[in-house]
Amino acid sequence: MDYRELLALAERAKEYSYSPYSRFRVGAAIAAKDGRVFTGTNVESASYGATICAEQAAVVKAVSEGCRSFEAIAVASDAEAGSFPCGICRQLLAEFGLDIKVITGKPDGDIRVCTIAELLPCAFTGEELPEKP
Ligand code: THU
Repeated sequence: MDYRELLALAERAKEYSYSPYSRFRVGAAIAAKDGRVFTGTNVESASYGATICAEQAAVVKAVSEGCRSFEAIAVASDAEAGSFPCGICRQLLAEFGLDIKVITGKPDGDIRVCTIAELLPCAFTGEELPEKP
């Protein structure tokens, strides 16, 4: 999928942000290898730690619909140049592939593209865990 189109979907998802505490809106759109796109936005809680990031919302929607194979995720935020996923979101995305591309920026401006492997060097992938019984 075209990265600018994916970013435009992330921008649109940002409009649904529930962020009364930080007032920082984030939208995400994740493109699956089967052509489907799932969007998500950040959902905050008065108990701050219960907040869900936009990227998490998008991944959880996708996996809940049986989708585990992804090409790229676009992230749109209130930051002027867009912003990259937080550490927890990088780890969650790494679960589904270090080669997933992360796109940020504005759909009509400069965009930045990198991979989860670049954003999360020496990732803990689960390879280290003992074999399952
Ligand atoms: N946030 C995201 O949705 N994704 C990120 O990768 C970074 C942070 C949200 C969480 C919170 O609602 C707000 O941005 C401020 O941290």
